[in-house]
Amino acid sequence: MKHSKSTFLVFGASGRTGQHFVSIALKEGHKVKALVRNPEKMKMKNSNLELFKGSITDCEDLDDLLNGVNFVICMLGNAQEQNKAPINTIFIKKLIPAMRRQGVKRFLYQAGGLTRRYKDRLSFVTWVLRNTVARYNGLLGQHKDNETVIEYLVEEAQDVDWIVHRAGIISDGPSKGLLKRDCRKISLATHVDIAKYNFQVINDKTAIHTCDLSCYIK
Ligand SMILES: NC(=O)c1ccc[n+]([C@@H]2O[C@H](COP(=O)([O-])OP(=O)(O)OC[C@H]3O[C@@H](n4cnc5c(N)ncnc54)[C@H](OP(=O)(O)O)[C@@H]3O)[C@@H](O)[C@H]2O)c1
Repeated sequence: MKHSKSTFLVFGASGRTGQHFVSIALKEGHKVKALVRNPEKMKMKNSNLELFKGSITDCEDLDDLLNGVNFVICMLGNAQEQNKAPINTIFIKKLIPAMRRQGVKRFLYQAGGLTRRYKDRLSFVTWVLRNTVARYNGLLGQHKDNETVIEYLVEEAQDVDWIVHRAGIISDGPSKGLLKRDCRKISLATHVDIAKYNFQVINDKTAIHTCDLSCYIK
């Protein structure tokens, strides 16, 4: 699906998914604004890319950042900090009211395949993976934080056109194909494919208010 020329506000732009996402959006001729803690980590240079130095934990000028923005994308992750406090949830609870004030409607939040849907139960396999692999890798706080973001979006942000992508990521290797949205099946995808999927799905009206997975088209 083609976007008309738009402005994306990206959080997590310096991350493994985020860098690919920014490249794709710029390559398609869009403008990208990004809040980054370390601007020097951004590999690409482009006159359509505007970097703002800062952290989601002390970002006071969200209204300024949102000015002129069409789409907001969060590909944030900080497992260590999320084990201590739900920093994404705290941030999203500031971001959504700022989006309302600035009239920005469309929002994509990247969570994980081991993140529970709202009031849902994990399948047995997912439960086991979460309590072994995710626990061992110190990711439980991240999933819990993602779940409180989802709870907030479902319970308090139905007026915003949000989409949650519960992504499955295995590596930063080359593309393995195209991903499609699926409510049950998940593929272990590469970061570049997840970024491509995010870029497509944010413009997909049928994805609004879903918390779906993604899997490769066979
Ligand atoms: N990686 C996986 O295997 C995986 C699998 C499934 C789902 N997910 C989900 O996808 C999300 C993103 O994954 P990823 O692998 O792309 O993450 P990543 O490479 O770790 O990138 C995380 C991004 O968040 C930014 N960030 C962290 N704390 C911040 C703060 N306080 N203020 C501003 N930015 C901050 C990082 O900035 P810095 O560059 O400054 O650190 C980085 O740009 C994860 O959080 C998780 O929920 C990941």
